[in-house]
Amino acid sequence: MRVRIATELERTRARSALLTDAVDEVELMRQHSPLMSPLVWDLAHVGNQEELWLVRDVGGREPVRRDIDDLYDAFKQPRKDRPQLPLLRPDEARAYLVTVRDKVLDLLDGVRFDERRLVENGFAFGMIVQHEQQHDETMLATHQLRVGPPALTAPPPPPAVVRVGGEVRVPGGPFTMGTSTDPWALDNERPAHRVELDPYAIDAAPVTNGQYLAFLADGGYDEPRWWSAQGWAHRQAAGLSAPMHWRRDGDGWGYLRFGRFSPLVLDEPVVHVCYYEAQAYAAWAGRRLPTEAEWEKAARWDPATGRSRRYPWGDEDPTPEHANLGQRHLAPARVGAYPAGASPLGVHQLIGDVWEWTSTPFHGYPGFAAFPYREYSEVFFGDAYQVLRGGSFGTDAAACRGTFRNWDYPIRRQIFSGFRCARDLRPDEVA
Ligand code: AVJ
Ligand code: FE
Repeated sequence: MRVRIATELERTRARSALLTDAVDEVELMRQHSPLMSPLVWDLAHVGNQEELWLVRDVGGREPVRRDIDDLYDAFKQPRKDRPQLPLLRPDEARAYLVTVRDKVLDLLDGVRFDERRLVENGFAFGMIVQHEQQHDETMLATHQLRVGPPALTAPPPPPAVVRVGGEVRVPGGPFTMGTSTDPWALDNERPAHRVELDPYAIDAAPVTNGQYLAFLADGGYDEPRWWSAQGWAHRQAAGLSAPMHWRRDGDGWGYLRFGRFSPLVLDEPVVHVCYYEAQAYAAWAGRRLPTEAEWEKAARWDPATGRSRRYPWGDEDPTPEHANLGQRHLAPARVGAYPAGASPLGVHQLIGDVWEWTSTPFHGYPGFAAFPYREYSEVFFGDAYQVLRGGSFGTDAAACRGTFRNWDYPIRRQIFSGFRCARDLRPDEVA
């Protein structure tokens, strides 16, 4: 376990370094969008959380920099104010991270992984790895919003190798949602509980640019009947007319991705849409968004055993054959690129590529208990946030599994968000 933790910490830090070494000091300190922090804030915040939880709490050691706790407290500092704060400069932030990490590696050598919940199975270390990876994905979204010459490169995602389309029918009945045993699962994924669902159909793949373009070309953005009341009000106020980062390209469309323009790839999952756009598309298509439980049953339920597994393909950790994760590529992969990652019922690309909006607001499961701090999940519970599932091309495998829950406001689309549709089955369709 010590070796695994050290490897994960190091791998994660390499990603943070890649994201922050890619631009100069001025760009690290600048705010590229009012929705985002300066990259140098994310960087030092990641180090501060590591200090709070691992150096001070698990290790019981003296603070490294108690004086900066408030600066990097996400609840005390609204994002829009962060560029004006007396932040650590990039070189100071990097040095701070090294100091904290040295202490963590030192205490990792001697820590006893006993029954104290914080350290049991290395939980606190896993939580800190996931926290840094989540901020890395946030920093990747900041890169996408940044204007200027490209700073990141990666090979293109793999091509489609199978044809995938249409929908998959999922039988009704109970399944186990959430987990009580996954050692690094976060509090909002717990506890495991039985959920009974009616039979339903869910798309075999995320909605593609080509499908979304048909909605747009059919005047979907100008037709209030496809939109919820709140969705239409937002579409009007924000002047939405296409997914974020789409640009007109002659008669057609393209997108700006990490500073590079390319024509729209029609069989790639659509990305950078808000919940309201996803809802409107689904209504136009005569369908609806899946509930969170429907998404998870499609992703985890094994019809052969009735058991819920960690991933659509089984319990093994993702490999590059299973899913487009971890910023290995800087785009979602075409539908049909990951046959090895499909579920037993034939649902593809649930993990990776794009986060998928669900119709469920973010609440705690029955029996939820905040751990180790209310500010990770509990303070966000309520109808203001919608759940997203499955992770994106920018999500690391350590922060993604069949039970993992993400959430955001329904108007947000700077995240790598897409969706798939579902529908109820008619009585005559149910065997
Ligand atoms: C789970 C992605 C919604 O970024 O707000 C980072 C993760 N929590 N630091 C966020 C998180 C504390 C969180 N999301
Ligand atoms: Fe954070």
